[in-house]
Amino acid sequence: NEVTQHAHPDGSMRTIAPLLLLVGAASAFTTNAARLATPRVAASVRMGLVEELVSALPTTEPIKAALAAVPLPDELVTGLAVAPYAVVAALVLRTAFERLLVPVLCSSGSAEQEGSLKSQQYTRGRKLGGGNYGAVYEGFKGDEDEPSVVIKETSQKAELVDGNLANFGLSELYMNQKLMLCGQGGNIAKFQGHYYYGGDLCMVYQREGELTLADALKGKDFPYNVEEALTGKESGEESLELQAKLIRKMAGQVFGALDGIHSWSVVHRDVKGANLVLSDREKRFKLIDFGAACDTASGTNYDPRIQVFDKEFGPPEADLYKATNGQEGGFVVGAGGKFDVYCAGLLVLQMCFPPLRGPNGVKRFKAAIVNYDYDLAAWRESVEGTKGYAEGVEILDNNGGWKLLAGCLKESPGQRISSSAAASSGFCRA
Ligand SMILES: Nc1ncnc2c1ncn2[C@@H]1O[C@H](COP(=O)(O)OP(=O)(O)OP(=O)(O)O)[C@@H](O)[C@H]1O
Ligand SMILES: [Mg+2]
Repeated sequence: NEVTQHAHPDGSMRTIAPLLLLVGAASAFTTNAARLATPRVAASVRMGLVEELVSALPTTEPIKAALAAVPLPDELVTGLAVAPYAVVAALVLRTAFERLLVPVLCSSGSAEQEGSLKSQQYTRGRKLGGGNYGAVYEGFKGDEDEPSVVIKETSQKAELVDGNLANFGLSELYMNQKLMLCGQGGNIAKFQGHYYYGGDLCMVYQREGELTLADALKGKDFPYNVEEALTGKESGEESLELQAKLIRKMAGQVFGALDGIHSWSVVHRDVKGANLVLSDREKRFKLIDFGAACDTASGTNYDPRIQVFDKEFGPPEADLYKATNGQEGGFVVGAGGKFDVYCAGLLVLQMCFPPLRGPNGVKRFKAAIVNYDYDLAAWRESVEGTKGYAEGVEILDNNGGWKLLAGCLKESPGQRISSSAAASSGFCRA
């Protein structure tokens, strides 16, 4: 049972426990010491430590010597000489946090263990969605009048997928716990915790809002229908400039959210309009639905034999996997988040071109781009002059959008740009 083991690294728990104890003891000691010492004593002890550390680093001298040529204050020279070490230390700490601490802190999903929340506190409201995995409801916390949470109820048991064991419920729990620990609450629907009820795993999220990006795209007045939610004001104006401004804002939010989760090794693998919810409070779209996501740092929910991809929104490697019955294609671990980058590129296309928003829009685009051998410029020429495409072409032309899309929509995942490069592209910096 590989998946469950990844989600519950009991073995690593034993090895890490003493380490945790040590870190805890050290931090308790320093906290207490700091409370007892006067600020001045504390500061001089800290300075002393820094000086010791600096003198212990043999190679700061060449850096200092090089900097001596420039007239700089001494403190700055010392600071610059230590900077490379600080960068390395920060990287090491970040990696240690992700690889050692996060798996331990997240290993809470198990029938015997209690959840982090109490089931008596929550009442189900309106049903929002459902499938063979379970169902999603609006939820009331305590005796509140308006539903403030969303409850996703799913099986806590592993299931057989094409003859292999998978546990999507527990991996969704893991991804949410990890991403919240890693400060991603602005990029994903805020996860509040979980409980067990009647044998089901119930995950509780902050209810972010009514509308998903898929809902918004269905509106005849898209993107004006999200102007107020995104900017806080409704101008009543209709112009190409306003359309471009809103689309660029949304593109920035989608790639920004992906950049955030990718920087912590989580690949969503089901990016589409229905899995981006508009947060009224934060005036932005946030990622939801991490049932298909995998964590390439711990291997959680990654099994090459289990590839459950959206039929419509998957990138070329997902379509190839389906078309060849698993003989070719599939998620490329080494390319990481570039799986999601393709899907986000499709979303930007939908934002720009109304004909791609209908039920078979994305499917038609995919068939066409295969015909043009993934040459986006050739596809563009083929739609120019066709009804429904003129404005989108202009929006992309005026703001460097074609360059961004060409980078996202490459056939080979390794050749696509990263979510981080996409998020900082000119098109997304509206
Ligand atoms: N935190 C949230 N705030 C507001 N709405 C949410 C939230 N989480 C989920 N929803 C709504 O519930 C729907 C279903 O949630 P989710 O995508 O997690 O489940 P799913 O497995 O895709 O279910 P389905 O296949 O029925 O869409 C979303 O499309 C969205 O409309
Ligand atoms: Mg969904």
